[in-house]
Amino acid sequence: MNKIYQSRRDFLRNLAITGSVATLAASPWLGAFSNTPFKGKGPNDKVRLSVIGTGIRGRQLLRLLFTFASEANVTVSSLCDNFAPHLEEALEICHLNGVKPKTYTDYRDVIEKDKPDAVLIATPLHEHARATIDCFSAGIHVFCEKSMARTLDDTRAMYDAHIASNRILVVGHQRLFNPVYLEGMQRIHNGELGTIGQIRAYWHRNNDWRRPLPNNDMKFERQINWRLYKEYSAGLLTELMSHQIQVANWALQQSPVSVMGTASIRFWRDGREVHDNVALIYSYADGTKCIYDSMISNKKYGLEEQIMGHLGTIEFETNRQYSEKDESIKAPGIQQMISDIENKVFDKLPIGGASWVPEIAVGDQGKKIIENDQFSDTALQLEALVNFIRKGSAPEKLTKEGYNASIWTLLGENAIDTGQELKMPEKYII
Ligand SMILES: NC(=O)c1ccc[n+]([C@@H]2O[C@H](COP(=O)([O-])OP(=O)(O)OC[C@H]3O[C@@H](n4cnc5c(N)ncnc54)[C@H](O)[C@@H]3O)[C@@H](O)[C@H]2O)c1
Repeated sequence: MNKIYQSRRDFLRNLAITGSVATLAASPWLGAFSNTPFKGKGPNDKVRLSVIGTGIRGRQLLRLLFTFASEANVTVSSLCDNFAPHLEEALEICHLNGVKPKTYTDYRDVIEKDKPDAVLIATPLHEHARATIDCFSAGIHVFCEKSMARTLDDTRAMYDAHIASNRILVVGHQRLFNPVYLEGMQRIHNGELGTIGQIRAYWHRNNDWRRPLPNNDMKFERQINWRLYKEYSAGLLTELMSHQIQVANWALQQSPVSVMGTASIRFWRDGREVHDNVALIYSYADGTKCIYDSMISNKKYGLEEQIMGHLGTIEFETNRQYSEKDESIKAPGIQQMISDIENKVFDKLPIGGASWVPEIAVGDQGKKIIENDQFSDTALQLEALVNFIRKGSAPEKLTKEGYNASIWTLLGENAIDTGQELKMPEKYII
């Protein structure tokens, strides 16, 4: 096992043991790494996992599983995909790791013939609900990739099936297990940033978001590029924003009360149905806003979640914390004014400007939240899943993080489609 990964896992273990009451209350899933007794699968029993949907993400999950599988006594008992080339590529990864899983093209065979302890579902969004609910009916635990489902009703049905079956449901929000986020959240929840007034989050790329089709054959278009079509996906919202609204909710320890939004197909007018440019505002009961945007025709600002309090800011994706108290924040004011005058930006001196400070962005580089940020949070999340299977349960708050993020993502889509500010309908409140 890789050393950095191991040290990150120790970091979580340590946080689980020494974290404050506030930390453990805000992130109880850290308990995955504590030494509580096993009530599920015994420590010497092999945990058997099946991957349903062996596309890009399913194969990534597989590779990450193999980084700790032998140490954690885990095996991949089966693979399932209805597209033969992807199934073969996944099988190859297993063979390289000395594992020979069964293969199926229909997930019902995974349930009936393989009967694994848990499945990892990484099919396209609109396929998540059916497989999840059928697995729960058969007593199988589920790790399902985000976002949970294509519709609000399917999302609720998945949650209800999880409750009715008493099986574990972990949604693929890996930031919940990321040491940068866990440390940063601890600071936010301990009040280090003061009162959070606003969260700004964005995800920008500059590409068409298309995947190549086998032999350029258009008959594969909707199958391969499912995320561009509304029947299967809400595009940037379910694929990208769902992660970031989860982070915002976690930081604020509450779900929004309303959302409004607007969106367009501004640049990639190539037959896609999902927007390439979206903007939303989520409002919280205490007045905090999460202002969100995503587009895929300019990547200068990349992706970020900026948690902004009156004492400081945390930027999670770049692992930085900034203080509002830093004097360097105000220092450049006078230089900026002189430079503006020299460059004839002003016609006249701004009179009454004794306190004149230009409101340019702060150049301060801030400080790292944690030192070493090279590790896979998805591997940590998968290892937590295995530990939950052994412990026999996972904290309900973990499942609720995924549920609320998924519901609010789809409500964001509805707000855009209807042009209205929407609240959570009663029937989706859990
Ligand atoms: N957590 C993350 O950071 C992250 C990152 C990427 C993708 N994802 C999620 O993972 C999921 C898959 O994304 P992807 O990029 O791997 O897509 P993909 O298209 O590469 O893979 C999906 C796979 O599912 C297969 N499939 C479709 N219907 C099936 C069915 N009924 N039964 C079995 N297999 C079926 C497809 O043939 C394909 O191989 C999505 O929900 C996506 O949002 C999560």
